[in-house]
Amino acid sequence: MNSFTTNMQLVYVAAAACFVIGLHLMNSPATARRGNQVSTAGMVIAIGATLVLLIHDGTVTGVGWTVLITGALLGSAVGLYAARTVQMTAMPQLVSMFNAVGGGAAALVAVYGYIDLESRPGGVLGTTTVTTVLDVIIGSVTFSGSIIAAGKLQGLIPGQPIVLRGGRVINAALAVIAVGAGIFMFTTASLPALLIVVLASLGFGVTIVLPIGGADMPVVISLLNAFTGTAVAMAGFVITNWALIIAGALVGASGGILTKLMADAMNRSLGNIIVGGFGTGDSAAPVAVAGDAHIRSIAADDAAIQLAYASKVLVVPGYGLAAAQAQHGVAELAALLESRGIEVSYAIHPVAGRMPGHMNVLLAEANVPYPQLKEMEEVNPEFPRADVALVIGANDVTNPAARRPGNVISGMPILDVDQARSIIVIKRSMGHGYAGMDNELYADPKTSMYFADAKKAVAELTAAVKTLVG
Ligand code: TAP
Repeated sequence: MNSFTTNMQLVYVAAAACFVIGLHLMNSPATARRGNQVSTAGMVIAIGATLVLLIHDGTVTGVGWTVLITGALLGSAVGLYAARTVQMTAMPQLVSMFNAVGGGAAALVAVYGYIDLESRPGGVLGTTTVTTVLDVIIGSVTFSGSIIAAGKLQGLIPGQPIVLRGGRVINAALAVIAVGAGIFMFTTASLPALLIVVLASLGFGVTIVLPIGGADMPVVISLLNAFTGTAVAMAGFVITNWALIIAGALVGASGGILTKLMADAMNRSLGNIIVGGFGTGDSAAPVAVAGDAHIRSIAADDAAIQLAYASKVLVVPGYGLAAAQAQHGVAELAALLESRGIEVSYAIHPVAGRMPGHMNVLLAEANVPYPQLKEMEEVNPEFPRADVALVIGANDVTNPAARRPGNVISGMPILDVDQARSIIVIKRSMGHGYAGMDNELYADPKTSMYFADAKKAVAELTAAVKTLVG
């Protein structure tokens, strides 16, 4: 290794160090922005080093540079536009599309390498490694699976589980074909075998994601994110690039850990999610308000009295808050209550909403101070001391039925909302949440239901509190 190569490897290690430090800084909301900046710096260093390497080696032709620069400019422009204009509620789809292009690009690295070597004297035999085949398989599965996942979340493909007749047999057959043709690639230089691996893997990505319900997609996307990282690490082995190997391994490991945490917080096994058939997507129309005698409705004025004369209020945000885009209104209401000396905190369940950190991101957008956001373990002991638990568009994460066995959310850790002195629930109807089951909290004698869109209800509450306190 000459000194130029050694220096380039050192630059790649510096880029990788930025990724590790950036990830570490993302542990806390207070340092997350800096973490993003450090990681971006790492990426700039890695791209810069690669360009220097290409110029030094002189392997890229004039046409090659045109393709490279045009691709980079187009990709950057589309990425920048998508990231700046995406709605918070559409973030999972965007991440899924990023996974698709990451996985697809990683697969193309190995595909190109194989085709290139196949045409040279000496051929690919002996140089095709396990990592080449794994890169093609995992990258292709991630590409097609992520596109289906994004399509489901965007409503372009029905969110309901699409169960194919003989689906499991098809999945198994595609997996066997992809692996079998991959093994054949080792022993015989064969472009048709490569094509079969690509097609079978793309097919597998489609058939494995189609039967999964739209609402389970965030977990699947996190899993596909781990796949993208793994494919990228494999691509790093294929072209011997340390930055790719380390960055890919980091994404693979963190995506894997996040997937496990999400599955645990929903009390579902990963196998259960992948087998599919659970979750219907979010398109179900709200059902009418039930005439159940146990359900007590409340109007803005009465709810405002409870809030204005409380000394401690815990706000419990959920998916409905995000859907209604009520975060700014909630922050305004909380500030009003605090100006009256009322202690206000937000109880954050790890899987409230539809993506990891959904509530944190939403409330940060409304400039809610981080110390007011309390994680489930921290806030649960505070519920018995809360005068009012104000539940806004949250359902499953508050359902006491999770404490009993025998239902779909049994064992899922929940926020102990039912232990507050009084409970106000804002939602539009008696409609179910993601898990599709009744919430026992609504029949609790301490609970009052405020039936309205979250944004409208919060604005009405704020106005009523202002009128009350002059
Ligand atoms: P959900 O249980 O899904 O309930 C949300 C509630 O919001 C619904 O019951 C709905 O009732 C109400 N709502 C919808 N639009 C509204 C609006 N505009 N205004 C007011 N209310 C509105 O939400 P959650 O409590 O946040 O729980 C999250 C669920 O998603 C959990 O079961 C979790 O396992 C699952 N999940 C989460 C994730 C992640 S990573 N966060 C990933 C996959 C699945 P109405 O229709 O009556 O208004």
